[in-house]
Amino acid sequence: MTYHLKDAPQRSYSEVDQDTWRRLCARQLALVEGHLPALYQEGLARLELPLDHLPVQEVMSERLHQLTGWRLSNAQDEYLGHLDWFIHLSQQHFPVTDYIRKPEHLEFTPLPDLFHEYFGHLAWMTLPRYNEVVNRFTRHFLAAETKAERDAIADLWWFSIEFGLVREDGEIKPFGAGILSSPGEFQHAMQSPELHRPFSQEGASAAQARPYAFHEQYFVLDGFEQLEAMTANW
Ligand SMILES: [Fe+2]
Repeated sequence: MTYHLKDAPQRSYSEVDQDTWRRLCARQLALVEGHLPALYQEGLARLELPLDHLPVQEVMSERLHQLTGWRLSNAQDEYLGHLDWFIHLSQQHFPVTDYIRKPEHLEFTPLPDLFHEYFGHLAWMTLPRYNEVVNRFTRHFLAAETKAERDAIADLWWFSIEFGLVREDGEIKPFGAGILSSPGEFQHAMQSPELHRPFSQEGASAAQARPYAFHEQYFVLDGFEQLEAMTANW
């Protein structure tokens, strides 16, 4: 995962891009309606994400800063290396790309795009309770002394923050940003109970991350509280 920070202003968007954003918002909101975790719904309301036009990074960064003290930083459309990623987080900067997926990739984009960042991650990032878990992951990663320890922490991040599911009121719901922001992977994950496993450190470490295809296993958190408990001493 490599992100290169850049100073250039956010790219300009075509009407096709704007239309992709509008269609994505409408499609995913219709799909996930009634399935969103309560905490996430709170975050999405706080974010005030524009559904009729692409978000402007500076505006959303200012909004996030007012809510939580965090800011957005600019990243290109590639995955960040783990170390770079957590260094940004340690500065209370959340790196976001300004790429928007192509219309033919509405259901699934192999590269993180604006919809992934804003709908998937930033709704959560408006919530101090969630920020605290992110801070704990960051501290723990940067304090780790070996590559094996760092890789294990990155795996836990991947299978919870990025691609986790969560059980709430007896129902399994999307939790990770990659599921929340992908109509295709949302349906695949929700309709494949045979791929669900209880979330555990051992399980996440043994599973294979698949950034460019649907996953073959999903880990189900027993509430957000499980992630809080796991990271309590980090
Ligand atoms: Fe992500």
